[in-house]
Amino acid sequence: MISFTLNGQPFSAAHDEATPLIDVLRGDAALTGTKQVCGAGVCGACTVRVDEAPVVSCLTPLGNVAGRRVDTIEAFGARGTLHPVQMAFMAEDALQCGFCTPGFVVAAAHFHDTWRAAHGTTRPSEAEIGAALAGHLCRCGAYAGIFRAVAAACAGEHDTAGAPAARVEARDKVTGQAVYTVDHAPDGMLHGLLLRSSMPHAVVTDLDLAPARAMPGVTAAISLLAADRTVRFAGEAIAAVAAHTPDAARAGLAAIGVRYEPRPALTSPAAATAPGAPLIYPGWRKSPPNAAEGPLLPMTWSGNRRGPANSFSLNRAAAKRAISAARANSDQRLVELEFHCAGQSHSCLEPHAAVAEITDAKATVHASTQAPQFLADRIKATAGVTDALVIAPHVGGGFGSKVGMGIETRAALALAQAAGRPVRIAYDRAEELSYPGHRPAARMKVALLPADNGSLESLSIETQSNAGVAVNSVVSGLARLIYPARSKNLVDWDVVTNTPPGSPFRAPGGPTLAFALEQAVDEAALRLARDPIELRRAWDEDPNRTRLYAWAQGLDVWRNRAATPDTGRYRRGVGIAAGYWLYFSQGGSEVELRVEGGRLTAAIGAQDMGQGARTLLAETVAGALGLRVDEIRVEIGRSDLPPGPMAAGSRSTATIVPAALAATDRLKSRLRAGTRGQAGDNAAWAELIATAPDMTLRAERPPDHPTRQADAKNPLKQAGMIGTVFDWVLRRFAHVTTGRGTGGAVQIAEVEVDTWLGRTRVLRFWSGLAIGKPQVLRLARSQAEGSIVQGIGYALYEAREYDPATGHVLSAGLEDYRIPGIADTPELHVYFDEGGFDHVPGGGIGIGEVATVPVAAAVANAMRHATGVRFTDSPMQPDRVLAALARHRGV
Ligand code: FES
Repeated sequence: MISFTLNGQPFSAAHDEATPLIDVLRGDAALTGTKQVCGAGVCGACTVRVDEAPVVSCLTPLGNVAGRRVDTIEAFGARGTLHPVQMAFMAEDALQCGFCTPGFVVAAAHFHDTWRAAHGTTRPSEAEIGAALAGHLCRCGAYAGIFRAVAAACAGEHDTAGAPAARVEARDKVTGQAVYTVDHAPDGMLHGLLLRSSMPHAVVTDLDLAPARAMPGVTAAISLLAADRTVRFAGEAIAAVAAHTPDAARAGLAAIGVRYEPRPALTSPAAATAPGAPLIYPGWRKSPPNAAEGPLLPMTWSGNRRGPANSFSLNRAAAKRAISAARANSDQRLVELEFHCAGQSHSCLEPHAAVAEITDAKATVHASTQAPQFLADRIKATAGVTDALVIAPHVGGGFGSKVGMGIETRAALALAQAAGRPVRIAYDRAEELSYPGHRPAARMKVALLPADNGSLESLSIETQSNAGVAVNSVVSGLARLIYPARSKNLVDWDVVTNTPPGSPFRAPGGPTLAFALEQAVDEAALRLARDPIELRRAWDEDPNRTRLYAWAQGLDVWRNRAATPDTGRYRRGVGIAAGYWLYFSQGGSEVELRVEGGRLTAAIGAQDMGQGARTLLAETVAGALGLRVDEIRVEIGRSDLPPGPMAAGSRSTATIVPAALAATDRLKSRLRAGTRGQAGDNAAWAELIATAPDMTLRAERPPDHPTRQADAKNPLKQAGMIGTVFDWVLRRFAHVTTGRGTGGAVQIAEVEVDTWLGRTRVLRFWSGLAIGKPQVLRLARSQAEGSIVQGIGYALYEAREYDPATGHVLSAGLEDYRIPGIADTPELHVYFDEGGFDHVPGGGIGIGEVATVPVAAAVANAMRHATGVRFTDSPMQPDRVLAALARHRGV
């Protein structure tokens, strides 16, 4: 028995002294504000205070705290008085999904207290804050807000309460009260674990579950094998066990007998496309996983290659002819480059997790999901139940990886059915970084030919994507939406390999395409001796980006840009890149407004994984009715709410806001009727609601304003999207309507390249966004800033690595898979151009995807400007940078 003081109270735990402190805090003490993420002391999410000093509880043995004082996040603000850092985090929006927030708050509070003791209210620099919080990671990239919050708290600006919170759930997140799926533990819950294939490609000839079922504490063991009993990547789930404790579940897994009949393993595109390579999907009918958000359409295969998908091409033969002729004539204007982008792991800090319970043929599932209603429908269709309820009040990041029904949910349901008790499956960090999806790797060949008259003659992009055992990547095809040309040859291929499947990741294909295309345009500007922005203005007709180009040209950093590459060891440069993204709306979505006892509730079955849907709904309703945001209760994150959009595919804002405005219009009409028409447009709605009888009403998202659509529609029509098969397929199979017009981004990066060590720092970054009117300005800025941080990770740090012999993911820990930390955050500037989307009720669209698209390309173009060397492999890690510099020098 080890005793210590926990949050001011005596506490004893009967565990071995080597037991990690976090297990006792989250288990015995049920203090789930302390989050488990990496388990290796890398991310800081589990930080607690021991005798006033912050420590990571995952690496602190229980024996080390005997007789000492331990404070968790629950001790901060427990008596109603928040710490100044907590108030600052709420006011400055220093959080998104909130999963990293408790750890940040504990560490930042310690920094604040020691800083104030030594420096009074002197404001610390970002470098000082960055050094203090360098042991913490935020996958949402909320670092700019964290800098602002900690600096403001140290300066004494939040010593007293008063500043309004940016998000409606901010208080729950800064106090550790926000409950995520991994925190949910119903009475009698069993712990589920997955047995994963040790072989990259094999037929499982024997799977003996009986020894596992005979193990003490094990209550259920099930097979997850498909009908063909074939595993196609190392780590594919083949069985699952539920037990009373995690240790018993682990012992159960170890007892399962498995025999494999190995098949040849092809762990790289080169191996998969080699002559005579065996087929990963033999036979005529193939059913690989879908790596895209769109539906999986029939496609031809040759060996392990699927494609070509080339329907977004334009005068394809002409493009190939023009480029061949230019090559034959050694036309110096022809830009031909080959690029490679590594796979990028989503690395959500809350892992994929599900807690499933089945009672009377009804499934109740707490799941870390971006799409509660979609998931409930999938459960009803596949799990043999008559009804399903999915609950997910908070989701610790998703970024596209938590849209579908994952194996963790399927297995938890099957185990719950077999055991007759609730079962939780939550991935550990190695599983999270290996199996639930990633942005596919891609190799792109780009040829770009300017015309004699200065316009763009032809563009050819041929992409070979590697989404492991999954298919349906679209990279080249997206180039139909930018830079109109006389002809375009846009071809996408999938190559399947015996590695884990890819999945949609924030603007799927967008950052990958931009890394190649925007560098090719930059190269064309160099060849033509044109200013890179001027050239883009000449080639890119989109009115939204045209305004952003003008904004970018006016920036000092661009006007003062050096004419030639820098010299010396540390070289600075400035680069630009453009991006776009479509927006969608989800048909049939409805906002419900309820007046109950004079209080107003707004509800929709949407989800908030940190992008701010909860606050968006509250702010929209409050703004339309002249209420304070805290006068409205918001309900989202459950499948039994009115139909709403999934948090994916740039559809939340353009769906929720119009539906909310329509609902408030209906409510106003009802309230006005209650006054016999006395109330006018500017009635005191708050007073009318307070005295109104209880009522419930709903309104569906109305169509975009028809009279304002024409102009916005044209660019998409020219780009071949509206009215095409693509458009029809989205409506028919994905239940979304393509929006009129595209969001635009024009971004400028300033970098410094250390030419001796190959290390690149992004010093300053400007993001100009044309997404219409930002609906909630502070959250919009957070989304834009976080997108830049993630894009910097894609540019410089993040690469999935595989063991070439086995296909096992080597980058399976946050110490090996490097995501940006707070000290990697440059000075960030976000500019919103508010025009272009008047036809959307509310006037604005989503941000997270379009703001991510050009980041890596802007960094790469800045590195080219700094060094005179074109870097074509992402991430542009030091070894690759040094290799490219050496090649350039002819070494
Ligand atoms: Fe930091 Fe989401 S807010 S991980």
